[in-house]
Amino acid sequence: MRKTPYTIYDLDKLSKNYLRLNKIFKDKNIFYAVKANKLAPILETMVSLGSNFEVNTPPEFDAVLNAGGTIDKIINSAPVKTIDCIEYMYSNGVRKFAYDSFCEIDKISKYAKGSSVFLRVYTSNEGSGQALNTKFGVNIKDAPKLIDYAISAGLDPFGITFSVGSQCDNIDNWEEAIKLVAPLFNEYPSLTTLDIGGGFPIEYVRSSLSINDISNVIENSLKKYFNKKINLYLEPGRYIVGNTGTTVSSVIGTKINEGINWCFVDVSIFGGFLELFEFDDWFSYKITTNSKSNEKLLYNIAGPTCDGCDILAKNILLPKIDMNSLIYFHSTGAYTNEYASNFNGFPMPTHVFLKKGVEQ
Ligand SMILES: Cc1ncc(COP(=O)(O)O)c(C=O)c1O
Repeated sequence: MRKTPYTIYDLDKLSKNYLRLNKIFKDKNIFYAVKANKLAPILETMVSLGSNFEVNTPPEFDAVLNAGGTIDKIINSAPVKTIDCIEYMYSNGVRKFAYDSFCEIDKISKYAKGSSVFLRVYTSNEGSGQALNTKFGVNIKDAPKLIDYAISAGLDPFGITFSVGSQCDNIDNWEEAIKLVAPLFNEYPSLTTLDIGGGFPIEYVRSSLSINDISNVIENSLKKYFNKKINLYLEPGRYIVGNTGTTVSSVIGTKINEGINWCFVDVSIFGGFLELFEFDDWFSYKITTNSKSNEKLLYNIAGPTCDGCDILAKNILLPKIDMNSLIYFHSTGAYTNEYASNFNGFPMPTHVFLKKGVEQ
């Protein structure tokens, strides 16, 4: 039996997710957000599908190139980058960088002369699982000053970007953002591209917005608020890779404490489930077990580390668990192994990749 914990990735699901999004958005430019998961078989599959890539750091950039990706398909959407990062990517041929400050324009114009730049604008993240507007995104009223400054610094301000937040469950965020930024495209004829970032939600323990509904809102808003044709970029991370992973863990202990059934497993918050911290209270991975017991009990599921915060779920109804049970955490493909550490000496999940049910 394979040693737990491990995460099984379904590469066929990964392909399906990409192809579905590509079809719904009618071949718009999809830049897979590498931060969601940069394991080599994931990136190699994305390369084989023809995806573009959104990277923020040299290690992410190298991972894409090692997977066979090409420089012309790479952009960097981090509004704040180190000088080393800008120099490294520019010297390797990357020419599209995000910005949201005068300081960033100074850095890009010095270390990535003449590059094309896209401005991150602050828009609402209301109703998203994770807000991404807490430190990035310029207020719309200050956008012209930054675009003018970029022009005066010899850069090519070709685009605007925004983020609706990650796991966005509020469809209004897309329309409001598109409405907010549209006038800039009239004011600045050099603007040709709108990068709407990621945020497309997936189903965890509760249902999420449908991708078709989201795409309709986006298409309709573009028609309503824009009077010129623009290029649309998408930067999905979670939507592409989230539901491809299932993490398998073993039970390492059980107890009943003050009437509560506890089940301890060999994967922890620190082993990759840090999003349990970042999200609102509703968030949990869907949890199942291989136990076939007819008796069902409510469980608190906890990681093995000594930290009191290392609790993975509360009040989950499962068939009665024993020391031979496996516990499965579903849709763990995004923002898990990228976050993982072996805090307290516990191993991080290893990886298994399946294609047509066959291990790769
Ligand atoms: C700049 C940028 N683009 C894309 C994404 C991907 O977001 P998601 O995984 O919600 O699709 C993120 C997430 O942090 C981001 O910061």
